This record gives sequence, structure tokens and C-alpha cells, in this order.
Amino acid sequence: MIELQNVSFRYEEKPLLRDLSIRINDGELVTLTGPNGSGKTTLALLLAGILQPQEGEAMIDGIKSSKPKEFEAKRRDVGIVFENPDNQFITTSVERELAFGLENVGIQREEIRKRVEESLKRFSLEDLRFRSPHTLSGGEKQKVAIASILILAPRYLIFDEPTIYLDPPSRRTVLEIVQSLKGTISIIFISQFPSEIIVGDKIYFLTEGILEGPIRKEEILRKNLFKIPFLSFLHVLHEEGIYEETDIPEPDALCDVIETHKKKISYRKTQKNNV
Ligand SMILES: Nc1ncnc2c1ncn2[C@@H]1O[C@H](COP(=O)(O)OP(=O)(O)OP(=O)(O)O)[C@@H](O)[C@H]1O
Ligand SMILES: [Mg+2]
Repeated sequence: MIELQNVSFRYEEKPLLRDLSIRINDGELVTLTGPNGSGKTTLALLLAGILQPQEGEAMIDGIKSSKPKEFEAKRRDVGIVFENPDNQFITTSVERELAFGLENVGIQREEIRKRVEESLKRFSLEDLRFRSPHTLSGGEKQKVAIASILILAPRYLIFDEPTIYLDPPSRRTVLEIVQSLKGTISIIFISQFPSEIIVGDKIYFLTEGILEGPIRKEEILRKNLFKIPFLSFLHVLHEEGIYEETDIPEPDALCDVIETHKKKISYRKTQKNNV
């Protein structure tokens, strides 16, 4: 279990996160969203134990961050995948990249070879094994980044907007990987894509340093809890009885939503004008 208890955090003078508490239980898939600059990455770094709270407590499996020695060991159980995999690559080939973390923690050569083979197969990376990670496509890079962390068998995995630079097919691949991991490890998935947020068992929203949630998928449209224009817009349509579906479309599909519900929207407008 990873837990933040009444955590406050600021980089310089300006407070960013205020009195924030969150708990991620074993095997849970938690999603988090919020506008740019709301502190999502900062929250991810606090959960991963990379940043320390100035107030409150961060805990991994009950070990407090205020106990640096024990906490340091616990931190290894938490992996993190960032939005830009390029920053993560260290070696010159996919297979070396997969082996790197294992070599670092002193795993036997034979065991490394076995795990690398398994990982190449699992992520369909066999044909790319000798390629330099920097030469891969965005989707391939993110797959290698995820594989190189999963090979270390973390118990907790944080994804910080891993799909933001990917095209829709690659985004789907990443999401499929995440869903295939569901139940095996604890996952914190940060995204600004509605279709990705709703895969969470629990959904959190971060706005201006305040964390709201957990919220269930069915509740999203009923509440206007966030300053994400697209979702707020959809919420208004929902409240007006115009958008009655429970699915949440992607922002790219907004035109289709408007097109489909055009008649109802203009009917409401006429009704309002007549009042
Ligand atoms: N190392 C730092 N030093 C000073 N300020 C920082 C630092 N890192 C982040 N900030 C500031 O803290 C705020 C929150 O940043 P953070 O990266 O956590 O937000 P975010 O929600 O992840 O944003 P994005 O959606 O753009 O990734 C921003 O105003 C940012 O400028
Ligand atoms: Mg961020």
C-alpha cells in the first residue's frame, strides 16, 4: 500500500499541494487527472518517494518517508513511467535497456538473459532487440520504457501521462498493457484523456492543489468537479438532458457529439429564448 497522509508540498514559496491524502491499495488501478500545472507529476513523485513532503507523511507499505534508510529500500518497489521515454533511455539497444536495471541490482547473468527474452516476447519487441531505443517510434519507445521497468518486478507502477505524445493505436496498446497488469500490481495512471481515466477502479481529480475523489466512472458526468473544459462541457450537456449516454467520448470526438445532439441543443436554445 502506498499512502500520503495530510501532505503539503511547495517548490519555493508558493504552496502547490495542500493537506492531501490518498491511499493506493495492493492490486488497485487508480487513475488521476487534472489540468496542466495542477501538480499531477509532483504527486506522482511524492507517491514514488522521489520527492519528500514538507508536511505530512508519505508511506510505502507502512514505512514512513521520515525514516530514510528503510524508506530507501521500499522505494525500489515503485516504478515510474514518464511522458517522454527518451529521458529514460540509458543504453544503445533495446535488449541492453531491458537488462540494465537488472544488472544494476546484481542479478545473475543467466537469470537476466532469461528475463530479457521473456520480456522481448511479452511486448513483441523481438524484432527491435538490437535497435537503439532513440531510433524507435513513439509507441515502440513507450513499450520499451514500460518493459524495462516491469522487468524489475515492481509492486507499484506509476504512469505519468505515458500516452500524451502517442497516436491513437499506440495509446490503445499502452492502455491494453495497463489493463493486462490490472490486479497483478498496484497502478497509478495519470492521464488527461477521458477514455483512459475511466479505466480506473478509483478516479481522482487534482485541481489547484486539491485532490478530489475517489469518484466512480458513473459519477463523472453527474458532477462538475473539475476545470477540464471538455468534461465540464459534457457535464453541462448531461445536466441539460442533452447528452444521455454514460460513455465519455474523447475530446477529438466533440464535433461528433455536437453533431449527433444538434437537434436537441437547438431545441433547448429555442425553449430558453422563448422564456
Ligand atoms: N522543480 C520545480 N521547481 C519549481 N516549480 C516547479 C518544479 N516542478 C514543477 N513546478 C511547478 O509546480 C506546478 C505543478 O507542476 P507539475 O509538473 O506537478 O504539474 P502537472 O499537473 O504534472 O502538469 P502537466 O499537466 O503540465 O504535466 C507548476 O506550476 C510547475 O511550474
Ligand atoms: Mg505532469
